[in-house]
Amino acid sequence: MLETALSELESRGVSLLESAHDASALEDARVEILGRKGALANAGKDLAKLPVEEKAKAGKLLNAAKQLLESIYERRKAEFEKAALDARLAAEWLDLTLPAPGPKPGSLHPLTQIQQELEDLFTSLGFAVVDGPEVETEWHNFDALNIPATHPARDMQDTFWVEGGYVLRTHTSPVQVRAMEKFGPPLKMIAPGRVFRNEEVDASHEHTFYQLEGMMIDRDVSVAHMLYFMKSLLKHIFGREVTVRLRPGYFPFVEPAFELDIQCLICGGSGCPVCKQSGWVELLPCGLVHPNVLRFSGIDPEEWNGFAFGLGLTRLVMMRYGIDDIRHLAGGDLRFLNQF
Ligand code: PHE
Repeated sequence: MLETALSELESRGVSLLESAHDASALEDARVEILGRKGALANAGKDLAKLPVEEKAKAGKLLNAAKQLLESIYERRKAEFEKAALDARLAAEWLDLTLPAPGPKPGSLHPLTQIQQELEDLFTSLGFAVVDGPEVETEWHNFDALNIPATHPARDMQDTFWVEGGYVLRTHTSPVQVRAMEKFGPPLKMIAPGRVFRNEEVDASHEHTFYQLEGMMIDRDVSVAHMLYFMKSLLKHIFGREVTVRLRPGYFPFVEPAFELDIQCLICGGSGCPVCKQSGWVELLPCGLVHPNVLRFSGIDPEEWNGFAFGLGLTRLVMMRYGIDDIRHLAGGDLRFLNQF
């Protein structure tokens, strides 16, 4: 009687333990069969009630069943533990031979990038890249450019005056004069650099910004030469045709003077804060060098003439990359700069 019960219990236990599909199902099976209040423990209690002569035989059977079931349990438990360990090792695998990532390489500021591209272009066209001081004499910044102290054109550029009659240069044009003084004609040069004006700062105005001056002095230089170089410049930077317009301008150091505007690439011409709602952005003021400027710089205007332009480098960067606020360029914010 008990023997049949024991052999049924044994086969139920085997199938429960063998069919457990994960560690927690196995634990449930263990509690049910091998636990302190489980099936085997109950069978042990029944066994205690048997007469002595049957007890010994049934006891052996019970022990054998218990050993079998415990060994199955131990084997299955080890299987699940190994599987769990394998999964963890696969997930946490670490390749110690990989090179360390190290610090990220930096990149050049967008202004520097465009400046270098233009330096490459103009040197390939035979222009020298020259430099001048940021703290300039009044003579180079104004007088030699045909803007005497009494001239109303001085008010066009809100100037930071420095003690001793010096100024923070308001444009890169004084480098024209310095280059002509130093090298004489013929001359082809560009002068990129930082300039300063006492401006109210907003989306399109900064007190500190960048220009790129260009100048060519030779015999019989014409407006056609000037347009050729300016168009090459725009094509090089934008890689496509941009809509431009040329209109008369006024600068005392060139005659005739022009303003070359490009259609605003931020808004496509419909009007935005960068183009002051006009759809156009002043980018390339230019003209033929005024005879007085040649004379002031020691060059004979009867023999030589030339053109000059003053590219707004900061504006050019804004147009090329679609930057809608000039303050991003000086902010030093890496979320902005990392994009270039
Ligand atoms: N220097 C002028 C400015 O800053 C620009 C300019 C340069 C105009 C050369 C004509 C020729 O506004």
